[in-house]
Amino acid sequence: MAILNIVKEGDPTLRKVCRPVTEITPRILQLLDDMAETLVEANGAGLAAPQVGILRRICLVDTGEEIVELINPEIIEREGEQEEVEGCLSLPDVWGYTQRPAKVKVRAMNRYGETFEIEGEGLNARCFCHELDHLDGHLFTDRTVHILTPDEVKEMMGDD
Ligand code: NI
Repeated sequence: MAILNIVKEGDPTLRKVCRPVTEITPRILQLLDDMAETLVEANGAGLAAPQVGILRRICLVDTGEEIVELINPEIIEREGEQEEVEGCLSLPDVWGYTQRPAKVKVRAMNRYGETFEIEGEGLNARCFCHELDHLDGHLFTDRTVHILTPDEVKEMMGDD
């Protein structure tokens, strides 16, 4: 396993549309393992392959219970809406209120090539949407309704 470099905003990789995975190769399995290690080390909620420079439709979401590996994921159901603060490992100092569905259902493939479905609400719904957006070259700031000011960030972090 290896810790991968997370590219930052401005890197053209983050704006590309990723290609589907057609075959689970040893290289893909290695990438999943490395991404999981990178996500844990970065203390993030999710990580998408383009963030580590790989233009494949792969992302990871930490649901709080487990790290879910999503290959070729699609949102197949969305319900309600929410507007909460989001951040991104590729935009380390930016936080903003972003509109997302309150609940989503995602269909994806796992590392064994099996199709599965997973639901997420609240933070997990935001995270699924955010990570899937990365696979189409979208950053959360494309959808942000308000970017937090430095004072608002301090307040959120409890630094006062
Ligand atoms: Ni992100």
